[in-house]
Amino acid sequence: MKTTAQFLQMKAHGEKIVMVTAYDYAQATLAEQAGVDMILVGDSLGMVVLGYDSTMRVTVEDMIHHSKAVRRGAKDTFVVVDMPFGSYHGDVNDTLQTAVRIMQETNANAVKVEGAGEVIEVIRKLTSAGIPVVAHLGLQPQSAGVLGGYKVQGKTAEQAEALIRDAQAVQQAGACAVVFECIPHQLTEMISRQLVIPTIGIGAGVEADGQVLVYHDLLKFGEHRVPKFVEIFADAGRVMREGLAGYTQAVKNGTFPTLAHSFTMQEEQLDQLYG
Ligand code: KIV
Ligand code: NA
Repeated sequence: MKTTAQFLQMKAHGEKIVMVTAYDYAQATLAEQAGVDMILVGDSLGMVVLGYDSTMRVTVEDMIHHSKAVRRGAKDTFVVVDMPFGSYHGDVNDTLQTAVRIMQETNANAVKVEGAGEVIEVIRKLTSAGIPVVAHLGLQPQSAGVLGGYKVQGKTAEQAEALIRDAQAVQQAGACAVVFECIPHQLTEMISRQLVIPTIGIGAGVEADGQVLVYHDLLKFGEHRVPKFVEIFADAGRVMREGLAGYTQAVKNGTFPTLAHSFTMQEEQLDQLYG
């Protein structure tokens, strides 16, 4: 398993960091086999797995439940767990307790929190308690209601300056990496040069030190809307749909199961049975 120190080195050597989300045992197993560097148990769980229309309804319990399954499937990959909506904006000591619980119950390697501002104190507190923290700036889905939707962030010089300040602040507070979602690629390049910690982009251009995508997006698994910044690397949804349709047909037609799928009783046992 790679460490936060190795992620710093990868950045320093210009070696890209690959992160993907996963939400259960099977997905985590495949991600680890593919050789990704980090797995994120994202609160995108709410949308792509639980069928909610935002991340707002995801609970700490949901995150712990799924993160445990991910850990069992990816024992040798750095696992980051999203702290969900509402779980880190109260008293900072409560936040610490919640983060400790997540780390202890899931055996994850880090937690992720969205935003700067008051969240800077959270990053400082958790980091000083020994919990690696990944920051998340730019588009913050947990604040979509306040931001007025899922929009590109940092497009004006003023917004870009604020983002650069936030990026410095999360690094200063001890974040081990920072996700940038939906920001102009020039800004990603500028910030990635300025920071020592790795930047992980999603909809943020090739200039980030690493990339992250949602599992269900890049594999087209599910019926949800796939954002513009996603490349579909395989249409797993089509393969699964075809497989399920084939199964349905075969059962209806009586072509499944065959004798090869069946268990057989010995003749003499059958004779005894019928007397
Ligand atoms: O929840 C998630 O999947 C995320 C990524 C989009 C970075 O936070
Ligand atoms: Na998230």
